Amino acid sequence: SFPLFTLNTGATLPSVGLGTWQSSDEDAYKAVLAALDCGYRHIDTAAIYRNEEPVGRAIRDSKVPRSELFVTTKLWCTQQREPEAALDASLKRLGLDYVDLYLMHWPVCLNVDNVKDDNYLVIPTKADGSRDVDIEGWNFVKTWEHMQKLPQTGKTKAIGVSNFSINNLKEILKPELGFTVPAANQIEIHPQLAQDELIDFCKSKGIVVEAYSPLGSSSSTLLSDPEIAEVADKYKVEPAQVLINWGVARGYCVLPKSTNPKRIESNFKSFNLSSEDTQRVSEITKKLGVKRYVDPNWKPFKAFV
Ligand code: A2P
Repeated sequence: SFPLFTLNTGATLPSVGLGTWQSSDEDAYKAVLAALDCGYRHIDTAAIYRNEEPVGRAIRDSKVPRSELFVTTKLWCTQQREPEAALDASLKRLGLDYVDLYLMHWPVCLNVDNVKDDNYLVIPTKADGSRDVDIEGWNFVKTWEHMQKLPQTGKTKAIGVSNFSINNLKEILKPELGFTVPAANQIEIHPQLAQDELIDFCKSKGIVVEAYSPLGSSSSTLLSDPEIAEVADKYKVEPAQVLINWGVARGYCVLPKSTNPKRIESNFKSFNLSSEDTQRVSEITKKLGVKRYVDPNWKPFKAFV
């Protein structure tokens, strides 16, 4: 089975967890139940996924003891000025007393003061087409400062970040600030976005790396790549398993998303990908090119430099 990793808080987390981005309502509920049933103990969600309610309900209905589970949720960009209230709201939706890890979803604070409904994804657009997302006098460093006090409330065991570049991390790690080192950085990683430099940087700081979209998300061509298929055939596994085990072999957490019970189960099977084959999979990018599957034109990504 897959190994456990240890956070800088001393807590352990399973190296493979269920991703739930783009799983809504009953799909998310069924996916989490199926995952817990076949042995997953690590579930990843976020306020913006809008599925914390069914995810939490599945966790409670599964009857798996809470202490055996590792649950992550994330602070959405529009609530960066009030992380504790946002965490309270997430816990309420999840129906849980605490999460194991609370992540700042993006190093971007979005101003949606003009938005009347609670649709976090609608960002006000100015007449000239630009989006006014900045908030004067606020940035992600300040958000991180405010997140410092969350672990002592008991509402989350650890705090971390997501979509942080090396430059973003350096900002919050400045020694004179004296801030907590993030327990984790969750980023997009797959063979077309191997992120070697960022992974090495995180490891050097004791920050656990977590990979989202490890299969290349829903528009991936990785799963149908002939070379990945060849490696899969060699080990008598499926292409998705090659991609998941490639990540674990490289020393980080992998969060494959699926709502299909059969795929949820097969994604959870570990095998030893040799270092030669790990290298071979890494080289796929030479043929396919670098690709970000998470839309790089969406405004917040502009901060990811
Ligand atoms: P589905 O939910 O129908 O299984 P990522 O984890 O990179 O975001 O990729 C998720 C995408 O990959 C989803 O479209 C998911 O579809 C699909 N997927 C997940 N597991 C597998 C698998 N074992 N084989 C093929 N596709 C998969």
